[in-house]
Amino acid sequence: MQQIKIFDNLYMFNTYNPQINLSFNQFLLLGEEPMLIHTGSFQMTEALIPILKEILGDKSLSYIFVSHFESDECGGLSLLLEHFPDAKTICSAVTARQLMGFGITKNAVSKVPEETLVLNDLSFKFITYPSEMHLWEGLLAFETTNGLLFSSDLFIRMGEVTEPIVDSSLKDEVIRIAPHQIPDPSAHKAVQGILSELSLNYIIPGHGPVLKL
Ligand SMILES: [Fe+2]
Ligand SMILES: [Fe+2]
Repeated sequence: MQQIKIFDNLYMFNTYNPQINLSFNQFLLLGEEPMLIHTGSFQMTEALIPILKEILGDKSLSYIFVSHFESDECGGLSLLLEHFPDAKTICSAVTARQLMGFGITKNAVSKVPEETLVLNDLSFKFITYPSEMHLWEGLLAFETTNGLLFSSDLFIRMGEVTEPIVDSSLKDEVIRIAPHQIPDPSAHKAVQGILSELSLNYIIPGHGPVLKL
């Protein structure tokens, strides 16, 4: 697991799987109320917990953002909550139902698209994301203070991460969202429309490098 400091308040944890030529990212946003973006799979979470504890020091995790219900986004949630029992899981209503239905957490906070979460030093707005698994509604997290989009399985790159930050443009990235990523044509168009209007500085995907716009 590579640990990369993207900004003073943002760490990236990246694990490459050569069998599928894809890398997996989790992010830690530090602040008054630290937030982890995705847990990774159970195995990734096992590796991540001591690293998180070291970076957090005497702080704890306040929030865990889960963009959708899939193992690389929340496979290690039960383990993580054993170590950070007070952390609240932020997710869509569908994901909250799955997490609570499987007994993974009782502490899921569901957010609807357009809803906000204001922490002391960060402010999030959530965007609908019809994700894999039956197009169940997921969420993207737009951090408005710094112009960061935590984009889940959108805007991803295959391969190993050698450069943690690469240049791109929002226009090119939005055009590149393929129909198979959001197989409902009207939802695909709607997501492209919403994302192209955002005022963004960085796209922070679940797989591959961070994109500087
Ligand atoms: Fe996924
Ligand atoms: Fe993913």
